[in-house]
Amino acid sequence: MGNFAETIERKGTRSVKWDRLKEVYGVADATDILPMWVADMDFAAPEPVIRAMQERLDHPVFGYSYICDGCKKAVADWLLNRHDWKVEYEWMQFEHGVVPAIASAVETFTEKGDHVLITTPVYPPFFTIPALQDRVVVQNPLREKDGIYSVDFESFEQAIEDNEVKLFILCNPHNPGGFAWSREDLKKMAGICAEKGVLIFSDEIHADLMLGGNKHIPMALAADGTGAKIVTSVAPTKTFNLAGVQAALMITEDTELRQQLEHNAMAHGHSNLNAFAAAALTAAYEEGGPWLEELIKVIEENMDLVIREIPAAVPGVKINKPDSTYLLWIDYRGTGLSEEEVMDRLLNKGKLALEPGTKYSEAGRGFLRMNVAAPKSTVEDGIARFIKAFTD
Ligand SMILES: Cc1ncc(COP(=O)(O)O)c(C=O)c1O
Repeated sequence: MGNFAETIERKGTRSVKWDRLKEVYGVADATDILPMWVADMDFAAPEPVIRAMQERLDHPVFGYSYICDGCKKAVADWLLNRHDWKVEYEWMQFEHGVVPAIASAVETFTEKGDHVLITTPVYPPFFTIPALQDRVVVQNPLREKDGIYSVDFESFEQAIEDNEVKLFILCNPHNPGGFAWSREDLKKMAGICAEKGVLIFSDEIHADLMLGGNKHIPMALAADGTGAKIVTSVAPTKTFNLAGVQAALMITEDTELRQQLEHNAMAHGHSNLNAFAAAALTAAYEEGGPWLEELIKVIEENMDLVIREIPAAVPGVKINKPDSTYLLWIDYRGTGLSEEEVMDRLLNKGKLALEPGTKYSEAGRGFLRMNVAAPKSTVEDGIARFIKAFTD
């Protein structure tokens, strides 16, 4: 169904990944640098999604559009079939992205000066957005052993108590690191949050990208019986490579929370998804399943290749296969090099752009994030560049 071997020229398409290297990495010339950083894929979107957008484009009137029940049904069916999660239409509130959803939740459910808890290392908007909204970010660093992460429940609970935390932003599955939380851990976090009156925002944008037969567990399901209040955000944009189309939604069973979110959306004049995003989201959830199955195989093969080749060639580098995502979290602490030295080698010698670990907070120091959602030939090129960067 998909063509995952074809190399598609993305330069000149206003691509953040390919056309913004100079600005993001501060290099004088980015012409020869291979980007394997920001989380979008170098693959064409599924054909049914392109067709749906094309059909919408073929109708020449682009007036106001709304989210029809067909669109909500596509979401509900997807969540039920993929994740065993039964969601009612009225629980859904559509947003332009998961990041805007985080911003909306922070603004709606906390006041200036309130404390927001995150487990680090984590996706940067989890700490930049609350800080920009004058909230206080409380970091609970994850425990890490040989690249495997877990929550320190004692300090998690203590951090909530000491700071009167109002909101916990969870990344489920986790980015970076790509690990899936166990049902027990999710339930334990939910139990603590319920007991302490902390609302949970669960970012589940990577939920569909489960590897190795792992199954995603929605926080809303794991928390059953705890009494925790949860807003979940999901999107088809990571799964089907539609980040530039911008479509996501927030889901909560709690009527009061929903009303508050709706009020906030109206206060900011947020409108529905645009006509193309609605068409893309519906087609993706209705018809994208087979494409996703193929994609996951390609990602697994690419990951296996990187995991086999890089650590064998570069002493001191370790890579674990994640449970989810198309992102590898590469541990280079054994090389003894600093982040500055590593980034210098990668950019100037290897000509390869990866994400430095500290972008995900100080807890990410010693790691690099590598995006392997690209044709095998590109990944092979990336491996060669990585090895070159580290070879004296
Ligand atoms: C955990 C997480 N949340 C949200 C996003 C981006 O969401 P959106 O593009 O819908 O704003 C990303 C993108 O990498 C992500 O990794």
